[in-house]
Amino acid sequence: MINLALIGTGAWGRNLLRNFADLEGAHLKVCCDSDDEQCETTLSAYGGIRTETDPEVVFADPEIDAVAIATPAVTHFDLARRAIESGKDVFVEKPMTLDYEHAVELVEAAEAAKRILMVGHLLEYHAAVDKMKELLDTGELGDPYYLYSERLNLGRIRSDENALWSLAPHDISVILYLLGEEPIAVAAQGAAYIRPDIEDVVFLGMRFPENRFAQIHVSWLDPHKVRRTTLVGSKRMVVFDDMQGAEKVRVYDKGVEPSDGYVGYAESLTLRFGEVTVPALEMTEPLRLECQHFVDCVTNRTTPRSDGRDGMRVVRVLDAAQRSLKAGGLPVTLE
Ligand SMILES: NC(=O)c1ccc[n+]([C@@H]2O[C@H](COP(=O)([O-])OP(=O)(O)OC[C@H]3O[C@@H](n4cnc5c(N)ncnc54)[C@H](O)[C@@H]3O)[C@@H](O)[C@H]2O)c1
Repeated sequence: MINLALIGTGAWGRNLLRNFADLEGAHLKVCCDSDDEQCETTLSAYGGIRTETDPEVVFADPEIDAVAIATPAVTHFDLARRAIESGKDVFVEKPMTLDYEHAVELVEAAEAAKRILMVGHLLEYHAAVDKMKELLDTGELGDPYYLYSERLNLGRIRSDENALWSLAPHDISVILYLLGEEPIAVAAQGAAYIRPDIEDVVFLGMRFPENRFAQIHVSWLDPHKVRRTTLVGSKRMVVFDDMQGAEKVRVYDKGVEPSDGYVGYAESLTLRFGEVTVPALEMTEPLRLECQHFVDCVTNRTTPRSDGRDGMRVVRVLDAAQRSLKAGGLPVTLE
């Protein structure tokens, strides 16, 4: 049984609290939030949990084995670094940090101290993403040509990070996970309407080796609530629509193929319109799977699927995208 502490019990931290309070192999001992009112809300809902307002009290507690951090992104680096320095295993929400150098520092600190470092890339624990990965890895989709992902709604407008850093970590982590590689160049354009210099809408393009391409559109200023990823492969196409209840993944047996036999250039390609299939998914709440995975990795000393290096790769793309955004969309290459 490992003893856990949760730091940050705001809008998202409450979801982590609900899951961590009810997991096999873990005991959520302390909830820490610098806001007294948050602590009172926690106490009224979960009487047996101790509350604290100072994270240093958590770091100094020798009975705490692991810490989950769900505070605003601007605090992630300092809190995660202090947790590692104090000998704790760490789960930190996305984005892991707001600076690539900080991400590298955290990964190096965790590896040197032999601590588990995991990032909350929630969609890597989604059954639909697992299904897409399986379809790719078994060759059913053929070679991946291109992907695009949309994460839009009229939602929480943050003041210390733009829509790119707030929303795109999910899409970037899924795309890197599916393709199993990092982009060689990125280019981003966007615009700020509500607050000066904080982009509300961003379009991010990523170029991968062998002409693979991905496009992400994020916005918290949009009339539609959209959570959708489309992948076009050489054999089939697949759409993951998280706004659908049961039928979240659809596989389209559509494509373009060379015609049989000799024909002139104009007739040499055939469009194929085959069946649409809806694979059955075994749906468990992805957040529950993510929280259990952290507990299992801490217990068994295994590397998380979304480990610190995964967090670092995503921050690297975000950092390059931010530079492109500020340069009016000029491509930024990644070594
Ligand atoms: N994985 C997901 O799908 C998902 C969804 C939403 C948010 N998030 C992430 O979760 C994190 C928190 O987001 P949120 O929407 O809950 O924010 P929030 O502002 O609602 O909550 C943050 C909480 O942290 C507390 N806090 C701030 N600084 C602190 C400190 N130094 N020590 C202790 N407590 C502190 C605040 O009092 C607040 O209660 C962010 O990193 C966000 O990106 C992830």
